[in-house]
Amino acid sequence: MPGIVIVGAQWGDEGKGKVTDLLAETADAVIRFQGGNNAGHTIIRDGEEFKLHLMPSGILYPGKTCVIGNGVVIDPRVLCDELDELRGRGVDVDGLRISANAHLIMPYHLLLDHAGEARLGRLQIGTTRRGIGPCYADKAARLGIRMQDVLDEKILKKKITAALEPKRLSLRPFAKDPELDLHSMTEEYLTYGHRLERYITDTARLAWDLLDEGRNVIFEGAQGTLLDIDHGTYPFVTSSNPVAGAACIGAGVGPRDIDEVWGVSKAYVTRVGAGPFPTELEDELGDRLRARGGEYGTTTGRARRTGWLDLVALRYAARINSLTALAITKLDVLSGLDRIRVCTRYRGAEGAEFDHFPYHQSVLHHAAAEYEEIEGFAEDIGDCRSEEELPTAARDYLARIAEFTGVPIGLVGVGPGREQVVWMGGRRDASPAETPQPASSARS
Ligand code: GDP
Ligand code: IMO
Ligand code: MG
Repeated sequence: MPGIVIVGAQWGDEGKGKVTDLLAETADAVIRFQGGNNAGHTIIRDGEEFKLHLMPSGILYPGKTCVIGNGVVIDPRVLCDELDELRGRGVDVDGLRISANAHLIMPYHLLLDHAGEARLGRLQIGTTRRGIGPCYADKAARLGIRMQDVLDEKILKKKITAALEPKRLSLRPFAKDPELDLHSMTEEYLTYGHRLERYITDTARLAWDLLDEGRNVIFEGAQGTLLDIDHGTYPFVTSSNPVAGAACIGAGVGPRDIDEVWGVSKAYVTRVGAGPFPTELEDELGDRLRARGGEYGTTTGRARRTGWLDLVALRYAARINSLTALAITKLDVLSGLDRIRVCTRYRGAEGAEFDHFPYHQSVLHHAAAEYEEIEGFAEDIGDCRSEEELPTAARDYLARIAEFTGVPIGLVGVGPGREQVVWMGGRRDASPAETPQPASSARS
């Protein structure tokens, strides 16, 4: 049984942490496959909040195998802090395994990320400034430092020297920065090596063994489809591939190891950082969604931009990830609205209509959303635990999403708590029901 991929179907922060934690209950392992500590995945258990940046979202289950795969970029300073914090809160982290091939974020990556954004000025991407882009750039340039390198002083020093050489010019403004001293950097990273050595292993082989034994393995994505460096709103994207296909590369398995792909989407849309956002609400309603949804970044604390659900973009995410199920989160945030809008088409600068997500940057930047209006619901749905308990209008809203995207909805979030979930079709596992019909038409 199965390999299940969980990806963000929007611009990140869809609630992947909560959904992964829920699906992980019946899984044997959770593997993070890309991104780094630009991610912030929130899990709320018994009222206690955990914000995970590098740790896979299965870590709260004692003894569950939790893997940081080769496709992740690791800031070992952040990882050690996260381990200390979790241990301090009584979490058993013995199930952690780290790929020896994962690349490391170095102090110069952080400086370069800051400097790159400062140089772009008004055109900046609004990165999390965690060094993600420069680290992936070094990986592609074959100048990266990998987890296995911090276990050998000679190799580490040689590799850091080689990595620094071509960056001399761009690092010149930081020449006196103590963070860039070769000796102390090497010492610091060797210390991380000592601390993390017991977790470092061949994680691809570990994944094969689990899958070959018929175990359930979850591949946990970070960021979201529209932040994908190839398929997102380039250049306003991250530097990795958050789409489902990348799970294979970032964990070291093949396409035939994947059985299901869950896409996580809010019942509306948020985005942090710059870039196009056709359904953005820059008005009181947008403020209301931000306030009700607590839409402030888990990693940087920045206010998230908010907008109506964009079904054109969601259908694109459904196709590019070959989604087998949708998890719709934060439906509770929409309660109290008379009417809910969903974008079903874009209109371009010269009046052209777009039913599909435009591949061309200029078209997307000028795309105006066209909406369909759906009846809202007034009830507080935080206590709903089954489909039948949801108001008819909320069920119709979900049915419209499933119908438009062609993907059945597996679960619906009705609040931040772990128990605040409605499993669709009455199931409590990773096999969603068929695409639901609108509740109103089912009645008639
Ligand atoms: P991730 O990066 O995709 O894991 O998402 P984040 O953790 O960055 O942001 C999602 C936020 O929404 C977190 O604060 C969650 O606790 C919260 N959340 C998740 N699901 C729900 C839901 O169904 N309803 C509400 N109100 N909050 C939710
Ligand atoms: P999770 O996993 C939302 C955004 C940044 C910026 C762009 C590039 O919690 O969903 P980067 O630091 O990656 O070079 O920044 O990507 N971004 C995220 N937005 N959720 C995330 O992660 C994000 N990780 C990066 O805001 O726009
Ligand atoms: Mg997040």
